[in-house]
Formats: sequence, C-alpha cells, structure tokens
Amino acid sequence: MSILISGGAGYIGSHMVLAALDRGEQVVVVDNLSTGIRGLVAEAAHFHQGNIGDQVLLRDLFRQYDVTAVIHFAGSIVVPESVEKPLAYYQNNTVASRNLIEACIEGGVKNFIFSSTAAVYGTPENNPVTEAADLVPASPYGRSKLMTEWMLEDATRAHDFRYVALRYFNVAGADPGGRTGQSTPRATHLIKRACQVALERVPVLDIFGTDFPTKDGTGVRDYIHVTDLVAAHALALDHLRKGGESSVLNCGYGHGFSVRQVVETVSKVAGRKLPTRESPPRSGDVAEIVADSSKLQARLGWKPQHNDLLEIVTTAYAWESRLNSAS
Ligand code: UD1
Repeated sequence: MSILISGGAGYIGSHMVLAALDRGEQVVVVDNLSTGIRGLVAEAAHFHQGNIGDQVLLRDLFRQYDVTAVIHFAGSIVVPESVEKPLAYYQNNTVASRNLIEACIEGGVKNFIFSSTAAVYGTPENNPVTEAADLVPASPYGRSKLMTEWMLEDATRAHDFRYVALRYFNVAGADPGGRTGQSTPRATHLIKRACQVALERVPVLDIFGTDFPTKDGTGVRDYIHVTDLVAAHALALDHLRKGGESSVLNCGYGHGFSVRQVVETVSKVAGRKLPTRESPPRSGDVAEIVADSSKLQARLGWKPQHNDLLEIVTTAYAWESRLNSAS
C-alpha cells in the first residue's frame, strides 16, 4: 500500500515526502521537474518524472505500487504570473488536476488531499477569514484552484471518492533538520526573497505596495511554517483512511504580519539591515488575508508546533545560507 505525492520534488512536496517516510509510509513521487528539484526527493521514495495529467502513467503507477491515496501538490503558484499567463495556469492547475482526479476514480484510489489556497477568497470582507466566507478569487491562480475544489466536490457526490482540500495561507520556513527547503532560484515568496537579499544574492528587496489599508501600508499575510502545514496533510490522510468526510480547511495561524514586519525579522536573524525599495503593488495582490483555522483544529486535531515568525525565518535563513555555500 502506497501514497502518491504529486509535486514531491517541490518546496512543500519534498517536506511532505520526508514526513510521510518518517511515519513509515511507502511513497511514490510524480514530478515533471519543471520547478521541482530531483535532489530534494528523499532516496527512499520511488521517483517518476512525468506529468500528473498523464493518465496512462498514473494508472500504471497506481497498479504497480498499490496506491490508496494521492496528495496533490503539483501546480503553478505565482499570483502575478497567473495574471500574465492565465491559460497556462488553467492548464497546469485545473486541466491536469481534472485528469488526475479521473485517473484516481478509474483506478480505485479513493482518498485525495489537495493543495488549495487562501487565494480563493480574494480580498476577504473580514479577517480572520473562515471557510464560509465568499469565494471571490482575485487572480487566475485563485480561480484555477477553486475550480479544482469544485471538481472534487462534484466528483465526491458522484463517485466512491473523498477528499480534503487544504487552503494554504503563506507557507514559509524549512525543515528544522535542514534536510530540505525552498530551493527554486527565482522563487517570488517574500521570506525567500528577503533571505536572498540578506545573503547578498539579490541586491535589494522590493516592497510591493506601501499604500494598502493595513497597519503600516504594506501587505499583511498569515505565514505558516511548512512543518505545521505538512502535519495537517498527515492528519488529513488519517482522517480519510478512517472514513472521515470530505472537508475544506484553512491552514494558517490566525495572525498576520506586514511586509515591513517580515523585513525587520529577517534583518534581526541575519544581523544586518536589508536594503529595500518601495515599489507599486503586483497585479493580483490583496491587502490583507489571515486564516481562521478553528475548523482544521476541531476536525483533524491539528495543533501547530512552530507558530513563531522568528522560528520560520530562522529555518528559512538557515536553508538559504546552505544553498549559498553550496553554489
Ligand atoms: C502566497 C502564495 C500563494 C498563496 C497565497 C495565500 C507563493 C509564491 N504564493 O502568495 O500560492 O495562495 O500566498 O495567501 O508563495 N512581497 C514583497 N516583496 C517581495 C515579495 C513579496 O513586498 O519581493 C509582498 C507581496 O506583495 C505580499 C507579501 O509580500 O504582500 C507576500 O507575498 P508572497 O510571498 O509572494 O506570497 P503571496 O503573493 O501572498
């Protein structure tokens, strides 16, 4: 019996592979390496390079490894890029997910965990935002993910198939053991970029938007440590295996930090003031979004262990320093 992890060579996926192996799962990874890195996939996992929309490949793997659950990370994730290339986002996120879901249903894989996003809410009317809030995505990225949630919901009604969609807020940090971390060289994530600036890989940090209606005018986000996020997936897997109902759950800590607060924290960890530059907001960016994750806590018994911006930044900075000395 195995679990198949799509996008297992990526940032969050590679952490999931390690956590799954740590708890004794047999793991199969499918990743096309468009942004993922082969070297981040733990040796003990069975790795297959390929597309998650390739139903022939998937059916073979489901049979070969006796796959009983899929954790689906593979996809495109950059909000402003999705505004420029909407059809690529609908292809990679929506169309490919549709094929994967169909392959699961046809191959008898009944448990599915989906990486969804806080971007399905757009700019929420109230923060912290609950799962019952209006769904008004502000970018093709958010819409491409929301459509996948809807496909899952409809598929569950029609077939013997259940899912948990986890709506991620801003995932950051790295494995505290230093085994993996965010390694995409051109990643756009704030904490990653700020660490690159601190290590002089990038000359200056753009602060995108200084006139938002937030505490200091910069964007506010709920940064969640990748280890806590991955723990939510493991709990979701247990829930589905026990016959638990399909669920859509926010993943965040319930408090927001502004871009300036993040910059200060990175400066503190790095021991140097970061050079910054005020720039216009990026298209598709929202002012503020913070999670209400009480449903995740109540339904899955999730208890965050790393709810601390300083710890998130310290692990991200340690990983970035490692990448720096390796290159
Ligand atoms: C992130 C996720 C997205 C998720 C969303 C949920 C990535 C690439 N995207 O988007 O999948 O749906 O969280 O909330 O992780 N910023 C700067 N300078 C920079 C980079 C960012 O000022 O160099 C600002 C942004 O304008 C934003 C904040 O920092 O206000 C966070 O940006 P970023 O880390 O790119 O994540 P999101 O766009 O929020």
